Amino acid sequence: MSEPKTSPQAAGAEPPKPMPFAIMRNAHEALRASIRLQEQKLAAGDGSGFRDEWQNFRRALAVHMAMEDDSMFDLLDGVSAGAITSANLPAEHVEDSRLAAAVDVALGATGSSTLRAAWSAWKDDHLHHLVHEEEVMMPLTMKTGATPEARARVVHDRLLGPSEGLPNFDWYIGWVVRMLSEFGSAGQPANVATRVHERYQSFFRSSRKLCALPAWLSTGSSGGPEERMRVEPEPYGC
Ligand SMILES: [Fe+2]
Ligand SMILES: [Fe+2]
Repeated sequence: MSEPKTSPQAAGAEPPKPMPFAIMRNAHEALRASIRLQEQKLAAGDGSGFRDEWQNFRRALAVHMAMEDDSMFDLLDGVSAGAITSANLPAEHVEDSRLAAAVDVALGATGSSTLRAAWSAWKDDHLHHLVHEEEVMMPLTMKTGATPEARARVVHDRLLGPSEGLPNFDWYIGWVVRMLSEFGSAGQPANVATRVHERYQSFFRSSRKLCALPAWLSTGSSGGPEERMRVEPEPYGC
């Protein structure tokens, strides 16, 4: 039996830290899980299974990219004198869309080698994009507010509020939760990786009041890549 990825939190250990921007960062782990599934289905020659996974991925990625293009990039450019644009992250989205469209075309092509070649080119580019975004964006998220509460309000006002009207937004949140619940993340067990999205669903969306943020903020991490967003807990006035 393999070791669990993360040990249960010991009694008296430091409580989880709030991390509002994990709602974007953890989505990358769901995208990576889907890419692994796509690769497995291609390798197994499961054409219909690949098509289903790819099309769900495309639907989810459309929402994730729109959140970045419409809100996240501008937010982080604003706290960094344009670091997002300088790093060419918006241009990477354009290139990713071009390569993904080639996969769509190859879905209807005869011969799996054509599809595999198109998908491999897209996959290499996309995995690089995810890492590049994490390297550039995650440190900048800490500049959006001086406290966890302030950053959560920024996430509410500048990211989630404007994104709720996107097509498939609710479906996307559910897809991320499902993928993380089933596959966890690179550094977290499923119950930790899904926490931020589940809290968002149960507290934030149900009330649509900023007073719900303290509950939503109780979405800490006990390990993994999301640790880059860890911040010290504070009392929340509401
Ligand atoms: Fe992106
Ligand atoms: Fe992203």
